[in-house]
Amino acid sequence: MTLIAPSMLAADFLHLEKDVRMVNENADLFHLDIMDGTFVPNISYGFPVVEAIAKIAEKPLDAHLMIVNPEKYVDRCAKLGVSMLSFHLNATENPADVLDQIREAGMSPGLAINPDIPVESLFPYMEKCDYLLLMSVFAGFGGQKFIDTTYDRVAQLKREIVARGLDCLIQVDGGVSASNSAKLVECGADILVAGSAVFKSDDPAGVITAMKGE
Ligand code: DX5
Ligand code: ZN
Repeated sequence: MTLIAPSMLAADFLHLEKDVRMVNENADLFHLDIMDGTFVPNISYGFPVVEAIAKIAEKPLDAHLMIVNPEKYVDRCAKLGVSMLSFHLNATENPADVLDQIREAGMSPGLAINPDIPVESLFPYMEKCDYLLLMSVFAGFGGQKFIDTTYDRVAQLKREIVARGLDCLIQVDGGVSASNSAKLVECGADILVAGSAVFKSDDPAGVITAMKGE
């Protein structure tokens, strides 16, 4: 089963409640992009917005930290009700410790890499992760074009997960839409994040159904 995680970065912030309810009804997870202007050259939104979404969210919150020193904010995310928490491999000194910290705080740990970081860099940490996030654009902005080398990266990561007998999921994020979702799933993707494709569409529910392959 493919899980669809609309990225709330592309939601209509003037009508956030409407977009949260759309996800409640049609999608599987809320993908929450948190940026600090240092790890990535952009600032998105922070904890007050996550808290507001959490109040009416009926699907799990999947927070994607694009910040330096993610370890500082793990407990805060847990308190806000985040279920899945990912951070970038090169955003901290000791990724393994942060993965443990996330699990100890009661959340599912995920580890993310940008498209220019070899997939093998994730291998030493896979056993500690519930999911691995392969960026299919460079983290920082919504609405970018999907990078085609992602297909091979997903397939390579899937082979390693299967070889090790793990049940770690693969999440793909950036430029994902109904035009590339089927191929991503074929390569081994389990969770598809989509911002623009969902929220900039006239028919978000239809796009989600199409991406699920239903
Ligand atoms: C980019 C974010 C993505 C982004 C996806 O740094 O991690 O989650 O919001 O947006 P689209 O689907 O528009 O590329
Ligand atoms: Zn994201």
